[in-house]
Amino acid sequence: MKRALVPGTFDPVTEGHLDIVRRASQIFDEVVVAVAESPGKEPLFSHNERVQLARESTAGMQNVLVEPFDGLLVDFAQKMGANVVVKGLRAITDFEYEFQMNALNYELSQEIETIFIMSPPKFMYLSSSIVREIARLGGSFTQFVPSCVEAALIRKFGLERD
Ligand code: PNS
Repeated sequence: MKRALVPGTFDPVTEGHLDIVRRASQIFDEVVVAVAESPGKEPLFSHNERVQLARESTAGMQNVLVEPFDGLLVDFAQKMGANVVVKGLRAITDFEYEFQMNALNYELSQEIETIFIMSPPKFMYLSSSIVREIARLGGSFTQFVPSCVEAALIRKFGLERD
């Protein structure tokens, strides 16, 4: 059985993330969405909230499970029996960062292969930070996130909605 890991901070999970997870789930037997604690990023949502939102958003995907992790990605991949890590690539600006992470992960473990799936144009410029920013400023973000995340952002920022 071929199991792949889709790691990220998912603060919060967006339609862009879900597109990558869905496509990975069509290639691999099983996909583990690995939600990093990422304390250095001072996430808006708690680790537990991010895991719950990712679980709710992927509930309809039969071969996808969501797990929290807080150590090295390569260690968690090994623990989960996954030797493939799938990352989404949006604009060229992602490349430098992903290139560095890939090189470091390769140094840490040559058993883990990282592969990239290109985001479609409609998600090229979508990120969790942009969604948080729009929500914080009271703009419309419905089209960028699943409904459970929309509701969570509305609660988090105390926004009024019709
Ligand atoms: O969604 P993000 O924040 O861009 O995801 C980054 C993530 C969580 C994949 C990355 O920070 C990570 O792998 N963190 C786990 C700690 C680790 O292994 N660090 C070394 C990788 S270079």
